[in-house]
Amino acid sequence: MAVLITGEKLEILITEAEIASRINKLSEQISNSYQHTNQLVVIGLLRGSFVFTADLVRCLDLPVEVDFMTVTSYDNKMKSSGQLRILKDVETDLNDRDVLIIEDIIDTGYTLSQVICLLETRKPKSLKICTLLNKPSRREVDVDIDWVGFDIPDEFVIGYGIDYAQQGRNLQHIAIVKTP
Ligand code: IMP
Ligand code: MG
Repeated sequence: MAVLITGEKLEILITEAEIASRINKLSEQISNSYQHTNQLVVIGLLRGSFVFTADLVRCLDLPVEVDFMTVTSYDNKMKSSGQLRILKDVETDLNDRDVLIIEDIIDTGYTLSQVICLLETRKPKSLKICTLLNKPSRREVDVDIDWVGFDIPDEFVIGYGIDYAQQGRNLQHIAIVKTP
């Protein structure tokens, strides 16, 4: 797919091979850092991180539990007061557990900073963040990210789980959406 049904052109930013190789490296680092953990709880933020979560957990050399959460921010045109809404909560009791949140892409940082605040109230033993993509130039709130797959420029991207109006999640690579 080089063009979306809505007419936008796609330009490859990160290839399938580059993603696979980065995931190998990340999973080594993550596995090392949790060597003393009984059973890590991995939380994938749906829907965008479903592919990344599936690939990453299969590379981890650790006992893991996998759970998912779906959140959305109300867009009331005032991002700083945007409230997080939970559409699907985790089913795991996080109390005293080592928890790793898996995100697809961190942009302004509002979504993740609110997810962190919420999950901290569940009293995990530790709470860390791994994101596949990061747009540092777009950051509006500070988020402490433990593992980043790729820093990318301020472009709208799709693929590898990430969508544009529900299109492109099934691409094997990450592509920039070029609006005509
Ligand atoms: P934040 O709260 O601004 O950090 O927004 C993060 C969320 O916005 C991500 O989890 C995505 O769902 C969405 N998002 C941000 N940038 C992109 C993009 O380039 N493509 C698709 N979704 C994006
Ligand atoms: Mg997301």
